[in-house]
Amino acid sequence: MKISGSIKETRDQVKEWKNQGLSVALVPTMGYLHDGHKSLMERARKENDKVVVSIFVNPMQFGPGEDYDSYPRDLERDAGLCEEAGVDWIFHPEVEEMYGPNFCGYVDMHTLPEKLCGASRPVHFRGVQTVVSKLFHIIPAQRAYFGQKDAQQLAIIRRMVIDLDFDIEIVGCPIVREADGLAKSSRNTYLSAEERAQAVILNQSLEVAMALIEGGETDAGKVKAAITEKLNTCSAARIDYVEIVSFDNIQPIQKVEGAVLIAIAVYIGTTRLIDNRIIL
Ligand code: PAJ
Repeated sequence: MKISGSIKETRDQVKEWKNQGLSVALVPTMGYLHDGHKSLMERARKENDKVVVSIFVNPMQFGPGEDYDSYPRDLERDAGLCEEAGVDWIFHPEVEEMYGPNFCGYVDMHTLPEKLCGASRPVHFRGVQTVVSKLFHIIPAQRAYFGQKDAQQLAIIRRMVIDLDFDIEIVGCPIVREADGLAKSSRNTYLSAEERAQAVILNQSLEVAMALIEGGETDAGKVKAAITEKLNTCSAARIDYVEIVSFDNIQPIQKVEGAVLIAIAVYIGTTRLIDNRIIL
């Protein structure tokens, strides 16, 4: 496995693999890898000849006052995990390699990024789309793997690939959880022991929603109210949003039918966590 910070070297290697007739997968990450990331790499490993993982904490997707500086980083540990997962190449550029002097090109979109996380993180998805577009150009893979943990991000990337004619297949992978149901996240490391115990409320509130829906409830307002009520039983939890939207266009719906995304963002102490259920 090789680690490269060079756009040119990485692009040349991927082109060479493709010239040899090999299929190439890309798994974009910001590092501090855990079993959620690993599940994407393992799936990519099974379905492709070569696997490239990008590790880049992308400053453009962090707003002012967000956790860019304190975002956890540990390349050595990440490299070990990638090696275990059978990764062939890590692309780990410096910020200057990705965003040179006078950089001013962005990729953006209407509607999909405006609700949910986009409402409380206004520049976030523009940063995600820009960096993912750059990664797709640098690493012209046949397939790219994304987690449903970031469901709005997945919907946006799928839309971007269709709208801008990227020649890449987007593969969505299920959420990997801790034993108690908390969705794995690099940001879970910010939680104190007590907060970590309380954070399980996110998944529990979504379980309440799913039980209601499985029991025949279709009124989105009632399902939202039940999630909110459950979250409010936890003293450490402060709700950012509880939303039920169409998974196709991320617009709010009144009735639970068709492809539905139930998404929540909740502060546990000062740490903002997200979780969701997708009903297809
Ligand atoms: P990051 O948060 O590091 O996540 C990288 C990928 O891992 C994303 O596709 C995310 O959905 C997936 N992932 C994270 N936790 C997961 C879990 N518990 N189960 C399954 N998949 C999980 O998402 C980003 O980085 C960035 O926005 C990026 C796309 C790399 C652009 O900078």
